[in-house]
Parts: sequence; structure tokens; C-alpha cells
Amino acid sequence: MIARTIEWKDNKVLMIDQRELPAKYEMLTCSTYYEVIDAIKNMAIRGAPAIGVAAAYGMALAAHSINTKNKSDFLNRLKKAKIALSSSRPTAINLFWALEEIWKGVVSSDEPVDELKKKILLKAESLAQDDIKTNYLIGEYGSTLFQDGDRILTHCNAGSLATVFYGTALGVIRSAFKEKKNIKIYIDETRPVLQGARLTAWELQIEEIPVTLICDSVAGFLMYQKKIDKVILGADRIAANGDIANKIGTYSISVLAKTHNIPFYVAAPTSTIDFNIEDGKGIPIEEREPLEVTSIMGKKIAPDHINVYNPAFDITPNENITAIITEYGIAEPPYIKTLNTLLTKNKR
Ligand code: MRU
Repeated sequence: MIARTIEWKDNKVLMIDQRELPAKYEMLTCSTYYEVIDAIKNMAIRGAPAIGVAAAYGMALAAHSINTKNKSDFLNRLKKAKIALSSSRPTAINLFWALEEIWKGVVSSDEPVDELKKKILLKAESLAQDDIKTNYLIGEYGSTLFQDGDRILTHCNAGSLATVFYGTALGVIRSAFKEKKNIKIYIDETRPVLQGARLTAWELQIEEIPVTLICDSVAGFLMYQKKIDKVILGADRIAANGDIANKIGTYSISVLAKTHNIPFYVAAPTSTIDFNIEDGKGIPIEEREPLEVTSIMGKKIAPDHINVYNPAFDITPNENITAIITEYGIAEPPYIKTLNTLLTKNKR
């Protein structure tokens, strides 16, 4: 079974280094919050819920390194760490959400600095535990949507590696498989960083869940051949109206799914919903370096000085989304109403 993606051990943060997987399986140790920022930026850790938890542990590292008993000095220095951590990647709201969760508990407390340090670590640990619980619940709800014989397409990696453990979209697939549903998975390679080929294919293979790897451009032809029954994937941010930002290529798949009348499901924790953003147009989209496109795993595949456009995410409009699976249940359109109802019923 795959190990937990990230944990706190001996006052350090340990994470599976996802950059060289599956060729190399290595753990990365971060002793400072700067190292956590680097790990998020260079995608040693990636996936919306995982980077949220990494940022929370980054705050714990920062807090432990601040050598003062003076509370306002402590808060000023911690705030600097928070700002630096929040600049590591822009699209996944989970990162900012986790930082706020930590910060809220600190600024509202009267406790002395030493107690605050303990409190921050406890909160980071509880965010990590909650992520696992959340994924199991998403899995339980989501697997009700899958039937025996379903052939399911997923994109990128919304798996255990994108979370603390179990995964969101892959959590649903894991749960359906555990329930002995006879399902078959297709995974897009997910250019340019190849999270599908390197991470999702690897995760599913370890658990012996039947999986077939395809090039991104094959998805449409499979649908045309009536070989895909359902699509499920994750999200990095969900706007109030249900538009989602997810890995580049998600929008194209949603259009294909709509054309072929194939249900298109999004699995994500409610911490991925950003009610401050009305629709997808307001979601910041990260652009990454050209090198990701002009080379594959260090091998040059394009001429020098070529112009490159490399958005890491795209926006899928709510009208292309059949349902959003959360830890509180399944929301269906109109999301502007149903997401809110889920949240208010379960009080975030
Ligand atoms: O650039 P990445 O690898 O961080 O992008 C990850 C995705 O787009 C995932 O689909 C998303 O974060 C959901 S993960 C549960």
C-alpha cells in the first residue's frame, strides 16, 4: 500500500518527493519553512490538499524557529512566514485556506508564545488527519455513482499523493474498487508534468486497480468509440457558481464528455470551495516555466528560444459538470445554491 504523502517527525516535515516518481522513490526532509516553500514551488509536493497541509506544517516549522517570548514580535515574524508560504503557488485555494486556519487560532488566542507554538503544530496535525477522513467520506459518497462495468477516465493525479492519504477522485475509485465494483480506469498522461503517467498510473498499479495509460489526445477518440462511461477528477479551486480550476486539459475533457453525453464528476473537499470568487474568471491561473514544455524529464524536445505558453490549470464552467462530490455529500446544479446548502447544513 502507498505510504502517507506528508508527516511531521522529530520536528521536521517529511514528504514523498514526487519529482522523480516512479523511477525513484525518495523522502524529502524539510527542516525550515523556506524548504517547504521550495518543495511546493518545485512540485516535490503537489496537489491541492497536499500543498495545504504542507503549508500548515511550514507554519509549524516557522513557529518553532522563532526565538522570542515577546508575543507581538512572534506574531510579526510568523506573519512574514505566512506571506512567504502563501506566495508558493497561486491557484489551489487549499494552501491559503490552511494558512488562514492556522493563523485564526493564533491571533485569537491569549496564550504565551510557547503554548502558541504547540497549538500551531496541533492544528497542522489535525488538518492532516481531517484531510484523510475527508477523503474517505468523498470516496464513500462518490462510489455510489459508479456501477459494475464502468470504464472511467481520470486526469492528472487527484490521488493519495495529491492529499495526505487516499485521494479525492482516486479515493472514489479506491472505494468503488474496495466495494468490489468491476471498474476499469483510463488515465491521461497529463502533459507537461505527467502526473497521470508518473503518479496516478503508479498509485493504481500498486493497488492492482486495472488501469490503462493514454496520451492526452486519445481521450476524445475513446469517447467516440464509446469506451468511456464516466469522467472523474479533482479541483484546485471551485468558485461559488461551481466553475472549477483544475489541471490543464480538464476543460477539453469536459467539452468532450458533454459532446458524448458522458457524466463528468469533480471530487474535492469543501476547503477547495472559494465563496469569495463568483465564477471561474476570478480564479488566478498559475503559469509555469517554459522548460516544462520544451523538455521531458530533462531531455530537450523543442528548439531553443521557442515561445512557450504553459498554464498549469484551466477553468471548466459549471454547465459541463454533472456533480461535485464533497465530504458532506454530492452537489448537483445549480451549484450556487447546492454548494452553499451543503456548507450551511454542515457548518464549516
Ligand atoms: O500542478 P498540480 O500537480 O499540483 O495539479 C494538481 C491537480 O490539478 C489536481 O487535480 C488537484 O490539485 C486536485 S488533487 C486532489
